[in-house]
Amino acid sequence: MKIISSPRLLQKEIIRLKKKGKVIGFVPTMGYFHEGHLSLIRRAREDCDIVVVSIFVNPLQFGPKEDLKGYPRNIKKDISLCRNYADILFCPNVKAMYPDDFLTEVKVGRLGDILCGVSRPGHFKGVSTVVNKLFNIVLPDKAYFGQKDAQQAAIIKKMACDLNMPVEIQVLPIVREYDGLAMSSRNVYLSYTERKEAVVLYKSLILAKDLIKDGVVDCAKVIARMRSYILKTKSAKIDYIRIIEPKTLVAIKKIKREALVLLAVFIGKTRLIDNILIKR
Ligand code: PAF
Repeated sequence: MKIISSPRLLQKEIIRLKKKGKVIGFVPTMGYFHEGHLSLIRRAREDCDIVVVSIFVNPLQFGPKEDLKGYPRNIKKDISLCRNYADILFCPNVKAMYPDDFLTEVKVGRLGDILCGVSRPGHFKGVSTVVNKLFNIVLPDKAYFGQKDAQQAAIIKKMACDLNMPVEIQVLPIVREYDGLAMSSRNVYLSYTERKEAVVLYKSLILAKDLIKDGVVDCAKVIARMRSYILKTKSAKIDYIRIIEPKTLVAIKKIKREALVLLAVFIGKTRLIDNILIKR
């Protein structure tokens, strides 16, 4: 596995590989790998000739009071976890990605201002800007994202479509811990008790799924039941619970066909997200 930190050198290397007809698979990450990341990297390995993984904790997607400084990092461990699957690990520094005179940003319109965008203003502008840059450097044929960040995945798909990007966006299922908690690098922030309580997100989604299966189609009723279930947990503070149409992210009132139930909940000081796709 080659480790490259210069965007220009990586782009040159990719152009050389593409001239040889290689299919490039790309997994953008912020590092601190868990099974969720590894499932994306393994899938890219199955699908593509060349697998590029990036590790870049993107300052543009963190708000001023968020955890940019403390975001978990362990580059040595990440290298050992991905070296058997990736051909190239791209680890640029902040100056290389955002030189002092950097100006251009990618705005995602209404999709970025709802759901997580309400409590994290500017977050999705930061995500789409960096993903756009990374796509221009890596020139991937396929790029892999996790369903846990459902809003991010929808925004990136829309950006790729709207801006005619020649890349296929693959969204892979959520990988869960033994008790159902969605894997996330931020789970490391949880105390022992909070970790046990954090499973409430998953359990509330299963409650929603069961209610819908039993014929409750009124979204307000489903959300109310989830809300009262979650609030029994001491450390939980709900940011939002929504039921939406999966592609457009528009809230729905009655569940007819496919619906995405998603939520963001603070467990202590840690904000966690999760979701479940319901098919009727
Ligand atoms: O999902 C993430 O880890 C990040 O948002 C991404 C896509 C790597 C952009 O920084």
